[in-house]
Amino acid sequence: MKKALFSLILLFLLSPAFAQQITQLASPDGKIEVKINPENGLTYSVSHQGKLLIQPSRLGFSLNKPEIKLTEFDLLDSEEKSVDQTWTPVYGERSNIRDQYRELRLRLKAKSQPAVEIQVVFRAYNDGVGFRYEFPEQAGFKHFVVGEELTEFKLGADHTAFWIPGDYDTNEFLYNRTRLSEVKALEANAKEIDIAVKSPIGDNVVQTPLQLVTDSGFYIHIHEAALVNYPVMQLELDKSDFTLKSHQVPDAVGNKAYLQTGTSTPWRSIIISKTPEGILASDLILNLNDPAPEADYSWVTPQKFIGVWWEMHVGKGTWEYASGKHAANTANVKKYIDFAAKYGIEGVLVEGWNEGWEDWFGNWKEEVFDFVTPYPDYAMKELSAYARSKNVRLIMHHETSGSVTNYERRLEDAFDYMVENEINTVKTGYVGKIIPRGEHHDSQWMNRHYVHVGKKAAEKKIMVVSHESSRPTGLHRTYPNMMASEAARGNEFNNAPTFGLTPEHETILAFTRLKGGPMDYTPGFFDFKLNRFEPSRKTQVNTTIAKQAALFVVFYSPIQMLGDLPENLEKYPDLVRFIVDIPLNWQESQYLKSAPGDQVVVARKAKEDGSWYVAGISDEQAREVELDFSFLEKGNTYSVQLIQDSTDAHFDKNPTGMESKSFSVKAGQKMKVRMAEGGGFVMKLSLNN
Ligand code: NOJ
Ligand code: CA
Repeated sequence: MKKALFSLILLFLLSPAFAQQITQLASPDGKIEVKINPENGLTYSVSHQGKLLIQPSRLGFSLNKPEIKLTEFDLLDSEEKSVDQTWTPVYGERSNIRDQYRELRLRLKAKSQPAVEIQVVFRAYNDGVGFRYEFPEQAGFKHFVVGEELTEFKLGADHTAFWIPGDYDTNEFLYNRTRLSEVKALEANAKEIDIAVKSPIGDNVVQTPLQLVTDSGFYIHIHEAALVNYPVMQLELDKSDFTLKSHQVPDAVGNKAYLQTGTSTPWRSIIISKTPEGILASDLILNLNDPAPEADYSWVTPQKFIGVWWEMHVGKGTWEYASGKHAANTANVKKYIDFAAKYGIEGVLVEGWNEGWEDWFGNWKEEVFDFVTPYPDYAMKELSAYARSKNVRLIMHHETSGSVTNYERRLEDAFDYMVENEINTVKTGYVGKIIPRGEHHDSQWMNRHYVHVGKKAAEKKIMVVSHESSRPTGLHRTYPNMMASEAARGNEFNNAPTFGLTPEHETILAFTRLKGGPMDYTPGFFDFKLNRFEPSRKTQVNTTIAKQAALFVVFYSPIQMLGDLPENLEKYPDLVRFIVDIPLNWQESQYLKSAPGDQVVVARKAKEDGSWYVAGISDEQAREVELDFSFLEKGNTYSVQLIQDSTDAHFDKNPTGMESKSFSVKAGQKMKVRMAEGGGFVMKLSLNN
């Protein structure tokens, strides 16, 4: 009962009766202010330097068991604290992250029967706000079932939004840029006929991370942090006053979450910035996550890899054995290992190595794979030893086909099999309808599963990359071995039969999906027309080659795949070497001129040798970027190697048009770099001695 109660008493003394319980919290720099009003339904609002950005918005719950509403409360007391600390991530965009905020904890008693006690915790940062609900242990209330979380974000104006349609099972959509009033989620969802499993929600439901831009120039970003044992939050838009209402993903019987007191919900996050670059630079979501438990994480090693993978996507080979084109055969995998060894690439992913691919998809079959039985032409032990002899490691593939009960039963054996074969990274996948039948990819049960796999893997010192899991919420801070996930439309979608990726896609991903955590985007396609093995294919990769290279710097991830086939990569040996050299863990990152849907430019400083990398990507337009090297250390001269689009490069007409240049720059100098339509650039600046 510190400051907050003091100001509460002052308000009580000075204000009319209806305002008596308003409490407020300001960010450390005083610019962001949260006001919470527990009277007549609990609400909060958020403003930036007096400009109201989130109007008074409801908080609370509707429970299915006991069947009560938690919306009306008496404020018991409140507590405020200030925190300013710096922490070091195991890997990331910068080596030190400042976590500075002011926190207000409200203890509330619901006017329900039973009179449930909840605590709502708000944190005000200089770059936004986080809040969550906590359910402390208490007499007379222990187990409960959430029917709906009633959190709202009342925007009160028709902002521009970068959104994907709400869906319980997938996030692999293209983004839409419209006014909120023009959101048509069902129509957008229906168009996407290449996505395997979809469960659309409603015409006004969109997913997070949601990037909003106000007419007054504010960038507002809504997402969540630390999603554990709880369903994904999607947002239902009320177009009458532009209120976003949380809509939690249900389980097989329609409930949202089964909880027990002594728990809390994920954090609801609102990043606020007057510049687009401020959104990209924000660490708010990471800061809201718990620190990793004290332990040795030296086994969590950032890495690049290639894979026996794209050749199945483009139709050169198959996952299944019986076809006669089985790609994961010993001789072929050895070629990949040789290629990796030649270029110093750490890992080789092998998909289709195990029995089960003959009828793996579309049957809602439970016993699909056992994760320990290789096909007869795949000599696991020999390959693993061969890889190790060349300083390469195989990467395991566990496609579950959505049969998660089967995977959980076999998980221990599957991981032990990896350890026996000296494999320390697994790519998991969840293509298909989930078993337990009726569960969704984004429901509480599945979110519990993803963390369960991460924790089990950590026990065996295994790193995890997942596909078709729910979108990340910064949990890689707490569980550093949960290194990356797909959880959005990745580069591989370029190969989708109907419509693949648009050139602007990556410039939006940086503002949306990537704010939750690293993505297994699989950049590094050097061959753009994808009909070589199946002439009926119409799709192609909609970027230039320089943009494919730039993505290794623009999209931060500690684990990155060079997507293309070795024979395609081999056509550009210098570019492969350049990419292999790009660090996966940085000392510092600065976002330069960027805007969602247009371009993203970033400068990152390497940890080891003080060199910098600068990279940019453009949408379908050609753009010129003015680089100002004032971030370089004064007095130093740097040798630059620049890879950029040639003057006639174009994502469609000439995707391989590329130029490489060498020159030097000094701190403070400026230069212009052109990006082609669907293009990009990447440069390395090495410190001259
Ligand atoms: C979908 C994944 O995104 C892709 O990378 C993988 O190759 C296939 N599933 C097969 O598991
Ligand atoms: Ca996928």
